[in-house]
Amino acid sequence: MEVYEAIAYRRSIRNYLDKPVEEEKIERVLEAGRLAPSAANKQEWHFIIVRDKELREKLMKAAGDQKFVAEAPVVIAACALDSSHVMKCGQPSYSIDVAIALSFMNLQATELGLGCCWIGHFEEGEVKEILKIPETVRVVQLLTLGYFEENPPPKSRKRPDEIVSYDYWGSS
Ligand SMILES: Cc1cc2nc3c(=O)[nH]c(=O)nc-3n(C[C@H](O)[C@H](O)[C@H](O)COP(=O)(O)O)c2cc1C
Repeated sequence: MEVYEAIAYRRSIRNYLDKPVEEEKIERVLEAGRLAPSAANKQEWHFIIVRDKELREKLMKAAGDQKFVAEAPVVIAACALDSSHVMKCGQPSYSIDVAIALSFMNLQATELGLGCCWIGHFEEGEVKEILKIPETVRVVQLLTLGYFEENPPPKSRKRPDEIVSYDYWGSS
């Protein structure tokens, strides 16, 4: 699968098969995240791979009872070790860095025939308590991972002319 094919084929997967994900595939997904770029190459990220069913059920509750969070055989809690670094442009780097790593992981998972869903709807304090995450660490996102039956139809996207201008703001 070429990169563009994975980008175009990827969907948010919310229906998972009751089938474990092979260790090598999880490792490859993690490797894709490990190789991702980060501001000043800080790599201030940490990924907790949650396979334990009881923990996944607790995470589901922390994620507003989104059932598929417990159904997915793997949930990755994507954390940032240091959330204090702000780039010259004014943006804090930690959530951007973690999001890039997760994007790489999501696309790698797609190539391996696995599906993911980003989860931003969760109570951070609850997730930290469940997974024994230190106070100073931020939980940026959860990512479900697993085999799925069907790839859902694509969701709509804005047209290119709605989101792009050339040379100056608003010019087409
Ligand atoms: C940062 C982020 C947070 C998201 N949080 C959730 C979530 O909590 N629950 C959920 O079901 N989907 C969540 N999604 C998935 C989006 O709803 C989905 O990406 C969007 O509707 C487009 O659909 P697609 O991914 O299938 O193309 C999230 C996606 C992103 C990028």
